[in-house]
Amino acid sequence: MSARINPSILSADFANFERDFNTIANADLIHVDVMDNHFVPNLTFGLPMVHRMQQITPKPLDVHLMISEVDKWAPGYAEAGAFSVTFHLEAAADPIALARRLRSIGARAGVAVKPGTSVDSILDSLIEFDQLLVMTVEPGFGGQSLIESTLEKVSAARRKIDQEKLDVWLQVDGGIDESNIARVAELGADTFVAGSAVFKADDRAKQIDNLRDLATAGFAHHH
Ligand code: DX5
Ligand code: ZN
Repeated sequence: MSARINPSILSADFANFERDFNTIANADLIHVDVMDNHFVPNLTFGLPMVHRMQQITPKPLDVHLMISEVDKWAPGYAEAGAFSVTFHLEAAADPIALARRLRSIGARAGVAVKPGTSVDSILDSLIEFDQLLVMTVEPGFGGQSLIESTLEKVSAARRKIDQEKLDVWLQVDGGIDESNIARVAELGADTFVAGSAVFKADDRAKQIDNLRDLATAGFAHHH
Protein backbone atom coordinates (compact mmCIF):
# COMPACT_ATOMS: atom_id res chain seq x y z
CA MET A 1 0.00 0.00 0.00
CA SER A 2 1.21 3.45 -0.87
CA ALA A 3 0.33 6.30 1.50
CA ARG A 4 -1.68 9.21 0.11
CA ILE A 5 -0.33 12.75 0.24
CA ASN A 6 -2.96 15.47 -0.08
CA PRO A 7 -1.41 18.96 -0.20
CA SER A 8 -3.61 21.57 1.47
CA ILE A 9 -4.14 24.59 -0.74
CA LEU A 10 -4.71 26.72 2.34
CA SER A 11 -0.97 27.35 1.93
CA ALA A 12 -1.21 28.05 -1.83
CA ASP A 13 -1.38 31.43 -3.56
CA PHE A 14 -5.11 32.28 -3.49
CA ALA A 15 -4.72 34.39 -6.63
CA ASN A 16 -2.98 31.60 -8.55
CA PHE A 17 -4.62 28.29 -7.76
CA GLU A 18 -4.29 27.00 -11.30
CA ARG A 19 -0.57 27.71 -11.39
CA ASP A 20 -0.08 26.20 -7.93
CA PHE A 21 -2.05 23.07 -8.82
CA ASN A 22 0.51 22.49 -11.58
CA THR A 23 3.32 22.46 -9.00
CA ILE A 24 1.68 19.55 -7.12
CA ALA A 25 0.77 17.36 -10.09
CA ASN A 26 2.03 14.22 -8.34
CA ALA A 27 -0.29 14.70 -5.34
CA ASP A 28 -2.80 11.94 -4.65
CA LEU A 29 -5.68 14.31 -3.97
CA ILE A 30 -5.90 18.07 -3.50
CA HIS A 31 -7.06 19.05 -0.01
CA VAL A 32 -9.44 22.01 -0.07
CA ASP A 33 -10.18 23.77 3.24
CA VAL A 34 -13.57 25.48 3.33
CA MET A 35 -13.97 27.78 6.35
CA ASP A 36 -16.95 29.94 7.26
CA ASN A 37 -15.63 32.17 10.06
CA HIS A 38 -18.23 30.55 12.31
CA PHE A 39 -17.27 26.94 12.88
CA VAL A 40 -13.65 28.14 12.90
CA PRO A 41 -12.29 31.68 13.36
CA ASN A 42 -11.10 31.99 9.76
CA LEU A 43 -12.64 32.41 6.32
CA THR A 44 -11.55 30.96 3.00
CA PHE A 45 -13.94 30.25 0.13
CA GLY A 46 -17.14 28.40 -0.61
CA LEU A 47 -19.02 26.41 -3.19
CA PRO A 48 -18.45 28.54 -6.34
CA MET A 49 -14.69 28.38 -5.83
CA VAL A 50 -14.66 24.64 -5.20
CA HIS A 51 -16.83 24.08 -8.23
CA ARG A 52 -14.41 26.07 -10.37
CA MET A 53 -11.36 24.28 -8.92
CA GLN A 54 -12.80 20.92 -9.86
CA GLN A 55 -13.16 22.24 -13.42
CA ILE A 56 -9.52 23.30 -13.75
CA THR A 57 -7.90 20.15 -12.34
CA PRO A 58 -8.25 16.47 -13.19
CA LYS A 59 -7.13 15.67 -9.64
CA PRO A 60 -9.75 14.48 -7.18
CA LEU A 61 -10.62 17.14 -4.63
CA ASP A 62 -10.57 16.22 -0.95
CA VAL A 63 -12.91 18.85 0.46
CA HIS A 64 -12.61 19.53 4.21
CA LEU A 65 -15.59 21.50 5.42
CA MET A 66 -14.88 23.57 8.52
CA ILE A 67 -18.34 25.06 8.48
CA SER A 68 -21.54 24.94 10.53
CA GLU A 69 -24.87 23.51 9.39
CA VAL A 70 -23.23 20.82 7.28
CA ASP A 71 -26.44 18.85 6.90
CA LYS A 72 -27.61 21.74 4.75
CA TRP A 73 -24.38 22.71 2.95
CA ALA A 74 -22.29 19.57 2.44
CA PRO A 75 -24.41 17.93 -0.32
CA GLY A 76 -23.80 20.93 -2.61
CA TYR A 77 -20.06 20.16 -2.63
CA ALA A 78 -20.77 16.59 -3.70
CA GLU A 79 -23.08 17.90 -6.42
CA ALA A 80 -20.28 20.24 -7.57
CA GLY A 81 -18.22 17.14 -8.33
CA ALA A 82 -15.93 16.92 -5.31
CA PHE A 83 -14.44 13.43 -5.10
CA SER A 84 -14.55 13.41 -1.30
CA VAL A 85 -16.49 15.57 1.15
CA THR A 86 -15.48 15.55 4.82
CA PHE A 87 -17.64 17.33 7.38
CA HIS A 88 -17.04 17.81 11.09
CA LEU A 89 -18.84 15.51 13.50
CA GLU A 90 -19.28 18.52 15.81
CA ALA A 91 -21.23 20.39 13.11
CA ALA A 92 -23.59 17.62 11.99
CA ALA A 93 -27.11 17.08 13.28
CA ASP A 94 -27.36 13.61 11.72
CA PRO A 95 -23.90 12.42 10.56
CA ILE A 96 -25.03 9.05 9.26
CA ALA A 97 -27.92 10.44 7.23
CA LEU A 98 -25.56 13.05 5.80
CA ALA A 99 -22.92 10.46 4.89
CA ARG A 100 -25.57 8.38 3.11
CA ARG A 101 -26.70 11.43 1.21
CA LEU A 102 -23.13 12.29 0.10
CA ARG A 103 -22.60 8.74 -1.09
CA SER A 104 -25.89 8.74 -2.95
CA ILE A 105 -24.72 11.81 -4.87
CA GLY A 106 -21.52 9.97 -5.77
CA ALA A 107 -18.94 11.45 -3.41
CA ARG A 108 -16.88 9.71 -0.78
CA ALA A 109 -18.18 10.61 2.68
CA GLY A 110 -15.72 11.72 5.35
CA VAL A 111 -16.16 12.63 8.99
CA ALA A 112 -13.68 14.78 10.96
CA VAL A 113 -13.05 15.29 14.66
CA LYS A 114 -11.34 18.21 16.36
CA PRO A 115 -8.50 17.51 18.82
CA GLY A 116 -10.87 17.68 21.80
CA THR A 117 -13.54 15.40 20.33
CA SER A 118 -13.55 11.67 21.04
CA VAL A 119 -13.78 9.20 18.17
CA ASP A 120 -15.53 6.59 20.32
CA SER A 121 -19.05 7.52 19.23
CA ILE A 122 -18.17 7.27 15.56
CA LEU A 123 -16.06 4.09 15.61
CA ASP A 124 -19.12 1.85 15.72
CA SER A 125 -20.57 3.56 12.63
CA LEU A 126 -17.40 3.66 10.52
CA ILE A 127 -18.98 1.43 7.89
CA GLU A 128 -21.10 4.46 6.92
CA PHE A 129 -17.99 6.47 5.99
CA ASP A 130 -15.16 6.34 3.46
CA GLN A 131 -12.76 8.46 5.49
CA LEU A 132 -12.15 9.39 9.11
CA LEU A 133 -10.16 12.59 9.59
CA VAL A 134 -8.41 12.93 12.94
CA MET A 135 -7.42 16.59 13.24
CA THR A 136 -3.91 16.84 14.63
CA VAL A 137 -4.22 20.62 15.22
CA GLU A 138 -7.15 22.88 16.08
CA PRO A 139 -8.82 23.54 12.73
CA GLY A 140 -8.60 27.04 11.30
CA PHE A 141 -5.01 27.76 10.36
CA GLY A 142 -2.03 26.25 8.60
CA GLY A 143 1.48 26.15 9.99
CA GLN A 144 0.66 24.95 13.53
CA SER A 145 2.45 22.18 15.45
CA LEU A 146 1.00 18.70 15.69
CA ILE A 147 -0.79 18.02 19.00
CA GLU A 148 0.65 14.71 20.28
CA SER A 149 -2.41 13.80 22.36
CA THR A 150 -4.52 13.43 19.21
CA LEU A 151 -2.45 10.45 18.05
CA GLU A 152 -4.05 7.91 20.36
CA LYS A 153 -7.23 8.40 18.32
CA VAL A 154 -5.29 7.38 15.21
CA SER A 155 -4.23 4.13 16.91
CA ALA A 156 -7.75 3.42 18.17
CA ALA A 157 -9.29 4.05 14.77
CA ARG A 158 -6.68 1.89 13.02
CA ARG A 159 -7.42 -1.01 15.41
CA LYS A 160 -11.12 -0.75 14.64
CA ILE A 161 -10.62 -0.47 10.86
CA ASP A 162 -8.33 -3.52 10.82
CA GLN A 163 -10.47 -5.59 13.20
CA GLU A 164 -13.57 -5.05 11.11
CA LYS A 165 -11.68 -5.06 7.78
CA LEU A 166 -13.29 -1.77 6.84
CA ASP A 167 -12.43 0.11 3.67
CA VAL A 168 -12.03 3.48 5.40
CA TRP A 169 -9.16 5.89 4.78
CA LEU A 170 -7.62 7.20 8.00
CA GLN A 171 -6.55 10.79 7.46
CA VAL A 172 -4.55 13.20 9.60
CA ASP A 173 -4.43 16.96 9.07
CA GLY A 174 -2.32 19.59 10.78
CA GLY A 175 1.39 19.93 11.52
CA ILE A 176 2.38 16.95 9.36
CA ASP A 177 5.91 17.23 7.96
CA GLU A 178 8.99 15.14 7.18
CA SER A 179 9.94 15.00 10.87
CA ASN A 180 6.80 13.20 12.04
CA ILE A 181 5.01 11.61 9.07
CA ALA A 182 6.64 8.17 9.39
CA ARG A 183 5.74 7.96 13.07
CA VAL A 184 2.11 8.95 12.42
CA ALA A 185 1.93 6.40 9.60
CA GLU A 186 3.28 3.74 11.94
CA LEU A 187 0.30 4.43 14.22
CA GLY A 188 -1.96 3.61 11.29
CA ALA A 189 -2.76 6.78 9.33
CA ASP A 190 -2.73 6.18 5.57
CA THR A 191 -3.81 9.57 4.19
CA PHE A 192 -1.85 12.73 5.00
CA VAL A 193 -2.73 16.37 4.56
CA ALA A 194 0.30 18.64 4.35
CA GLY A 195 -0.02 22.37 3.79
CA SER A 196 3.06 24.32 4.75
CA ALA A 197 5.35 21.27 4.48
CA VAL A 198 4.55 21.05 0.76
CA PHE A 199 4.06 24.67 -0.25
CA LYS A 200 7.14 26.00 1.55
CA ALA A 201 9.39 23.45 -0.15
CA ASP A 202 11.56 24.69 -3.03
CA ASP A 203 10.58 21.63 -5.05
CA ARG A 204 7.01 20.79 -4.07
CA ALA A 205 6.73 17.68 -6.24
CA LYS A 206 9.91 16.27 -4.76
CA GLN A 207 8.65 17.00 -1.24
CA ILE A 208 5.38 15.17 -1.99
CA ASP A 209 7.32 12.09 -3.14
CA ASN A 210 9.58 12.35 -0.11
CA LEU A 211 6.62 12.55 2.30
CA ARG A 212 4.90 9.64 0.53
CA ASP A 213 8.00 7.45 0.76
CA LEU A 214 8.43 8.21 4.47
CA ALA A 215 4.75 7.51 5.16
CA THR A 216 4.62 4.33 3.11
CA ALA A 217 7.63 2.95 4.99
CA GLY A 218 6.09 3.92 8.33
CA PHE A 219 2.71 2.40 7.48
CA ALA A 220 4.37 -0.89 6.59
CA HIS A 221 5.49 -1.14 10.23
CA HIS A 222 2.08 -0.53 11.77
CA HIS A 223 0.58 -3.33 13.81
C1 DX5 B 1 -6.23 23.54 9.23
C2 DX5 B 1 -6.49 22.90 7.90
C3 DX5 B 1 -5.33 22.20 7.34
C4 DX5 B 1 -4.12 23.08 7.11
C5 DX5 B 1 -2.91 22.25 7.39
O1 DX5 B 1 -7.40 23.88 9.83
O2 DX5 B 1 -7.56 21.95 8.01
O3 DX5 B 1 -5.66 21.47 6.16
O4 DX5 B 1 -4.02 23.61 5.82
O5 DX5 B 1 -1.78 23.03 7.29
P1 DX5 B 1 -0.38 22.54 7.85
O6 DX5 B 1 -0.03 21.28 7.12
O7 DX5 B 1 0.53 23.68 7.53
O8 DX5 B 1 -0.53 22.30 9.33
ZN1 ZN C 1 -7.88 20.57 6.29
